[in-house]
Amino acid sequence: MLGLLSDTNPKWVAIVEANLSTFLSDHLYAEQKATSNGFSFVIQYPEKTELIKEMGAYALEESEHFKRILDYMLQKGIVLQKDKKNEYVNYLRKFFPKTKDRNENLINRLLLASLIEARSCERFALFAKLTMNAELSEFYQDLIKDEVGHYKLFQNLARKFQDENSVVEKWNKLLIYEATYMKQMGISALVHG
Ligand SMILES: [Fe+2]
Ligand SMILES: [Fe+2]
Repeated sequence: MLGLLSDTNPKWVAIVEANLSTFLSDHLYAEQKATSNGFSFVIQYPEKTELIKEMGAYALEESEHFKRILDYMLQKGIVLQKDKKNEYVNYLRKFFPKTKDRNENLINRLLLASLIEARSCERFALFAKLTMNAELSEFYQDLIKDEVGHYKLFQNLARKFQDENSVVEKWNKLLIYEATYMKQMGISALVHG
């Protein structure tokens, strides 16, 4: 359903379990970046009413995820680590050539966001399925419902602002580009590492 072209090695789950503070810190910052991204769509495309309505709601939902993870970490006494560069997102950003075309840039950003959501879903689902931590398994299963919704939201928005064929063509190329990178990953306790 998510269309991803590579599956994460299940061994990644054991790496996460052994480094839970790294994983939860990285996830917390991912929710913060998603929140900021939602607000930035609103600020940069104020004339697109439907987009800003959806992105306002999206940013709030991601900020709720942020709070849920932070609360969990505080409750369990899990130390919050410093944010690190997100190599995955940096790699993905290089896929689209720089453009001054605002609409083209919007579509590229929507597809990037959709892909990051899709990969997060794949990782969270794998973790929820295999972790020995029942509480976190339930937490991630619950979170996946929202994140699948986000993946679809960005896909649908892209199709509102560009014709379906162009969107699908870009998406398919982006999936191949992403899979090339992700085939070598699953080696660190990061959401996309
Ligand atoms: Fe989220
Ligand atoms: Fe999300």
